[in-house]
This record gives sequence, C-alpha cells and structure tokens, in this order.
Amino acid sequence: MSIDTSKSLLLAPGPVQLHPEVQKILSLPMIHHRTPEFDSILKTVLSDLKTLFVTKEKVFILSSTGSGGMEALLINVIRPKAKVLAIISGKFGERWAEMAEIFGAEVHKINVPWGSAANVSDVEKFLKENPDTEIVMSQACETSTATVHPIKEIAEVVAKTKAVFLVDAITALGAMPLPMDEWQIDGLVAGSQKAIMLPTGLSLVSFSQKAWAKIKDNPTPRYYFDIRKELAANDKGETFFSSNVALIRALDFVLKDIKSTGLEGLFKTIQRRAFYTRAMASVLGLEVYSKNPSDSVTALLLPPGFDGAKLREHLEKSYNVTVMGGQDQLKGKIIRLGHMGYITDQDLHQTTERLAAGLNDFGFSLDLQKVSDSSLHWLKEHR
Ligand SMILES: Cc1ncc(COP(=O)(O)O)c(C=O)c1O
Repeated sequence: MSIDTSKSLLLAPGPVQLHPEVQKILSLPMIHHRTPEFDSILKTVLSDLKTLFVTKEKVFILSSTGSGGMEALLINVIRPKAKVLAIISGKFGERWAEMAEIFGAEVHKINVPWGSAANVSDVEKFLKENPDTEIVMSQACETSTATVHPIKEIAEVVAKTKAVFLVDAITALGAMPLPMDEWQIDGLVAGSQKAIMLPTGLSLVSFSQKAWAKIKDNPTPRYYFDIRKELAANDKGETFFSSNVALIRALDFVLKDIKSTGLEGLFKTIQRRAFYTRAMASVLGLEVYSKNPSDSVTALLLPPGFDGAKLREHLEKSYNVTVMGGQDQLKGKIIRLGHMGYITDQDLHQTTERLAAGLNDFGFSLDLQKVSDSSLHWLKEHR
C-alpha cells in the first residue's frame, strides 16, 4: 500500500496548522498600530476575548510566548516571600514553580506522578494546614504528559481561602471548558499557538477581582509585564507597548470564527480528534499514556525499549509529518499528537497512515490496509 506524503502535516501540541484565512491575513501589508483602522480592530478583539475566557474581567494581549504570560500572572500578584503552592505534574509545572522561586517566593510543591491528575484533597489538606498561602498554581493541561487536572474542583477549594488560583491554560483555553468567572479562577493564561490557532507570539491573560486586590498594592518590581500599565493603555484604546498588529488582526478573525461556531462547537471538534486518536491507538497497538487524558493533546506510550526520538525524526524526514516526542523522564518513551488548530479529517487519516508505516519501519507488523480502513470507518461513523 503506498502512503501519500505530499502534504506536510503539523500535528504537534503547538504550534498548530493555521486556518487558510489566517495565512492570508498574516500576509497583508503592514499597518501602523496608531491608526483608526487598528484602533477599531484592537477594541473588537479586547471585547471578544472576554467570550473566549468566559469572563466579565478585562483580558490583556501580551507580545510574548506563553511563558511570558505565565510570568505576567505571577509577577503581578506575587509578593516577596509569599507562600505559594505549586502543583507540579510535568515540565511546565516545574517551570512555573521555578519562576515563583526566582521571584523570591516560599514555594511548596505537590508533586503529582507524571501522567496522573492532581488530587483535590491534597490541595485542600495543604491549604487547611497553611492558611497563609497566597497563591496556588496549576496547569489546566500539563502538555508534557497530555494530562488534564480537575481545575473546577481545585478552584472551589482555593476560593474558600485567601489564596488566588493561577491557571496555565496554554494548552487548554479554547480546547475545553474553563469558564473563568463561574469556576472562580483568579488568573488565566492562554498561548496563541495552541487552540487560539495562530503562530507563536501572543499570550493572553486575565485576572479576577480577588487577584486585582493583590495587584494594586503588590510591591514586587515589574515593568514589561506590569498589568496596571497595560490596563491604563487599554483604557485609552492602546496596548502598553507596540501592538503585534499582524497577530492581533489574525486573532480578530479567529475570535469571530469561534463566535460563529460557538465555544461548545470548538470543544467538540477538538474532542472528536482526541477520541479519534485514542481509537487509533488501539488499532496501532499503542496505549494512551495519561490516566486522565486531555482533549487538546494525546500522548501515546511506545513499547519498552523503543526509541521514540528516532521514530519522531523518521516520521518527520520520511513521512513529512511533525508530531512531538517526550521530555525528560518521558524522552523517547512517548509520542504526542496535538488536536488543536486547523486539522481536516484527511489530515487525521493521513497522520494515522504515516504513523503506521513509520512504526512498521521500526519493526511493527501492522496491516497498513486494515489500519487505513479502520481510520476511514471511524471518521465516517463519527461525523
Ligand atoms: C502548558 C504549557 N505551559 C507553558 C508553555 C510554554 O509556552 P511557550 O513555549 O509559548 O512559552 C507551554 C508550551 O507548550 C505549555 O504547553
């Protein structure tokens, strides 16, 4: 059976494939950010972002990658020596805890085994024993393990205390429900290269009133990410620094597109891709790694002794498809497929075909025709 590798496919958990209209918008001639044309786009985008975050609060656009947004959430609410509880279940949890340590906080860690979801009662116990905790932070989806955490339940526990709950939703916002106000999340960050379906380069952040009370008299020095300055600029119809015109114009399109589909529609589309991938895992003879798998990204466990890094490289070079491997303790042991962005059914199908062929090159003996038929059958049955 011959495998069609003509189209290059990007099924990483970010950056993601772009909508054709986004590609067109990105190639438009540049305009200045101090023009009536851009002012009007910025105004619309700042308002439409509230729909994405499901909040009445202001949402801010920062010209930074997601990690900059994580830093912005932290630095605006963190006081020197503040007691912080970091829920760590993978690479990105580790990074955020490290940031809090660098800003001088007293960081306590709940180390969740990789691939498992955080235990709400562990958070509750810590907060009971440490009523002076000022910040609790967690990923909504820990991308390195493709695992989701019970954010609604943790938020309920944190809401009863003086602490604010900061959530890294970089691989979650736009891919699964995270209504900020209803769930009482105090700080939420998203990244443009994930379910927002844009290139890397913007982070989006928002704060609850409980967080704003901390922000106002927080003595921690900050400049680029001082959200009070961003707020003042937004109130004047501007961003604090030069606006990322190209990405904000494209964001305007994406937000309108999401509005027309509805958030629920977007979640369902992404979830269907996750369900497809999980179904294909058993066709390929692979296991889903996570005990609480995310809809935005799936990690597939490779057989013991298998070199996942080599497989990933082979898929890239010989089959023109980009998926991600594992990091740190999962290096070489898993491959991760993203479900966000502009992905057609044909893209899903071809990814499965190429993955099956790639696995066979490494000693699997999959019947490629059977894999292909199963994939088409699933896609037809789950339209
Ligand atoms: C959950 C999570 N947090 C943070 C980041 C870091 O984002 P960036 O690479 O845009 O700085 C990522 C990136 O993949 C992520 O998935």
